[in-house]
Amino acid sequence: MSQEVQILDKTFVPFISSKQLDDRVKDMADWLNEKFRGGNPLFLAILNGSFVFASDLFKKITLTVEITFVKLASYQGTSSTGNVLTTIGLDRPLNDRDVVLVEDIIDSGKTLHEFLPQLRAHGIRTLTVVSLLTKPEAIRYQIDIDLIGFEIDNRFVVGYGLDYDGYGRNLPAIYQLKIEE
Ligand code: IMP
Ligand code: MG
Repeated sequence: MSQEVQILDKTFVPFISSKQLDDRVKDMADWLNEKFRGGNPLFLAILNGSFVFASDLFKKITLTVEITFVKLASYQGTSSTGNVLTTIGLDRPLNDRDVVLVEDIIDSGKTLHEFLPQLRAHGIRTLTVVSLLTKPEAIRYQIDIDLIGFEIDNRFVVGYGLDYDGYGRNLPAIYQLKIEE
C-alpha cells in the first residue's frame, strides 16, 4: 500500500492529511479568535505531544496573546493514591488569566482529570480546554472539553506531534495503526 509508514515494529496508514489538519486548525483558531475577541488569553500547551498542534494553532491566532508550556510527569507515589502528577516548567503567574489549555489527544482523560484541579488552584479566571483529538470510546473520566479538532476511533495514532515510543512526531500528517488482515 502507498504511503504506509513503518515505525519500529509497527505499520501505520494515512489517517488525517496535512490539508485536513490545516483546515480544521484554522477553524479552531477562528473559534478562539472570536471567543476571546478583545482579550489576552494565555495558551498553555502540554508537552511533548502538543507542540506541533500548538505551534500551528498559535500562528493563526490574531489576538495579543501569550503561550507557555508545561510538562506533566507522573511518578509512583508512596501513598495508596498511586501515581502523583507533577508539573514542570510552569513559569507564568496564572491568577486572573483566561487560560487556553492545548492538548494533542485526550484518551482516557486521566491526565487532565489529575491536572485540571491543580490548574484551577492557581486562581485562573477562565479555563478553555482544547484538544486536537479525542477518543470517545476510550474516555474514562468526565472532562469538559470546549473545542475538539477530530473525534477518532479507539486506535493508536502517530504524527503531527504524537509519538510511538518517542518516534513519529515529525510526520506532517496523522497516521493510524494498521490492522493486519
Ligand atoms: P489520557 O491521560 O489517557 O487522556 O492520555 C493522554 C496522553 O496519552 C496523551 O497526551 C498522549 O501522550 C497519550 N496518547 C493517548 N493515545 C495516544 C495515541 O493514539 N497516540 C499517541 N499518544 C497517545
Ligand atoms: Mg499529551
